[in-house]
Amino acid sequence: MARLAYVDGRYTPHQDAAVHVEDRGFQFSDGVYEVAVCIDSALIDLTPHLDRLERSLSELEISLPTSRRVLEMVMKELLARNGVRDGLIYIQITRGTAPRDHAFPSNAKPTLVMTTKRVDFLNQKKILDGVKIITTPDLRWDRCDIKSVSLLPNCIAKTEARRAGGDEAWLVDKSGCVTEGTSCNAWIVTHDDKLLTRATTDNILRGVTRATLMELAAEMSLTFEERPFTVEEAKSAREAFSTSATSFVTPVVQIDDTVLGNGAPGLFTSRLQDRYFEYCVNKESAL
Ligand code: PDD
Repeated sequence: MARLAYVDGRYTPHQDAAVHVEDRGFQFSDGVYEVAVCIDSALIDLTPHLDRLERSLSELEISLPTSRRVLEMVMKELLARNGVRDGLIYIQITRGTAPRDHAFPSNAKPTLVMTTKRVDFLNQKKILDGVKIITTPDLRWDRCDIKSVSLLPNCIAKTEARRAGGDEAWLVDKSGCVTEGTSCNAWIVTHDDKLLTRATTDNILRGVTRATLMELAAEMSLTFEERPFTVEEAKSAREAFSTSATSFVTPVVQIDDTVLGNGAPGLFTSRLQDRYFEYCVNKESAL
């Protein structure tokens, strides 16, 4: 069965799926996206992902091209047609097609694209063994709370990480504090057993996994604080990890040249990872 994409009302073979050359997503990165994962045919945290999508759209004055109910139906239909029980779904909405002019057009119809991919998340080596990250200056704009498709600084930083033999980059603001990763939120565990992650008021993405993990951590009676931390604090931390829909809770075992602990995932991180996996696999089937 050929893999399908969804483009503006049609299920199309993935290899032929296309948008217009004057689509503003292509011309100006004028659009937003969401990524949600599906485990055993259940979409994890679908409601907060779609809430964030609606918020990103409204911050940019782009309208949702279908009702939310239809959007959910199409997501589930595309996953089913592509036979994806475990994998991810990517949704992109742009302002639509219009003659090239920087100012927002008054009457463009938003473009809606969805693609899916099969992934066996729970057996991914990096999620289980941990990753090496680098730190690099955060070159992004001041509205990182909007999940915009404008990801060039993120792409530059991730490339830098790969070239340095790492897996991910944590981005650093002008005061030397970590903002977040190129596609994940950043956390450390201090030597007095406190979880630290930056507050979402500080111009970072309001990670859905981050929010869920905070609830789980509270249930586990772990103490956490939302405040910026420096690169030095991260390197001397007891443990570090990242969160995102696609990387779950991923242990960080090395930051630049500094190996954390004994170079293996730490105890707190492993407990949180187990708890988050459990949360994901116990979701009721949504398809
Ligand atoms: N990225 N910060 C950034 C910059 C991100 O791009 C992401 C997600 C996160 C974590 O958010 P969440 O927990 O809601 O996935 C934080 C997705 C996975 C991506 O771009 O593919």
